[in-house]
Amino acid sequence: MSRKLIIAANWKMNKGPAEVAAFLETFLGAAGELAEQADLVIAPNSLSIPTASALINDINPAIGLAAQTVSENENGAFTGETSTDMLKELFVNYVILGHSERRSIYGETNAQINAKIKKTLAADMTPIFCIGETLAEREGGQLEAVLSSQIKEGLEGVSDISNLVMAYEPVWAIGTGVTASAQQAQDTQKFCRSVVEELYGAEAAAAVRIQYGGSVKGANSAELLGQPDIDGALVGGAALEADSFLELIRNAVA
Ligand code: PGA
Repeated sequence: MSRKLIIAANWKMNKGPAEVAAFLETFLGAAGELAEQADLVIAPNSLSIPTASALINDINPAIGLAAQTVSENENGAFTGETSTDMLKELFVNYVILGHSERRSIYGETNAQINAKIKKTLAADMTPIFCIGETLAEREGGQLEAVLSSQIKEGLEGVSDISNLVMAYEPVWAIGTGVTASAQQAQDTQKFCRSVVEELYGAEAAAAVRIQYGGSVKGANSAELLGQPDIDGALVGGAALEADSFLELIRNAVA
């Protein structure tokens, strides 16, 4: 089965509205044809989403817009949170969930991530469901157990994953400049797909797109995304500048 690549920029807590506008003025025009070859998504911080939404709608509506997290609750008394209703009003169509920074810094559990995935799917948005092991877990022989429980607990009670994307991001490769080798990433993503197969069957496992994330850049995107079980990238540092993100995308789709 051929799966369309999906390449997403995760800007984390970077870029206010003015910087987002400057990035998109370069990026949206240049990304025209590339957006036919791969699904392209940007994830600004929530204050910059309205600016990004307006520019995407005006210049290139094929570019996806993601939030970096969302509340699992309906609108109500949840100080500091953002709801799926609010994101939908701004034409957000993806939500990154379970990112390792949300897990490690903000203590998000598999159960919370599961609730957020269900809320996002119920709102007809696409979760980008992140999983990944720490170096200690990999070196301690826990790789498969950790990934398997993140996948199983994160997807508990989710009956249909046709509108869900996964992202394998080894924690030791995020923002460190250390990338998993293409073979390491391929082997691990093949394992993740086998866990999906156990839960949802062969057809769903063959269809689900799994991104790799962790120090992806222009120099390694072609090799990583050329692996059979790597269907895209979730990119932090190399997506902060339009030119380096475009180079990464061009090399991957070439
Ligand atoms: P990085 O971040 O590309 O800077 O390693 C990836 C991510 O955290 O999604």
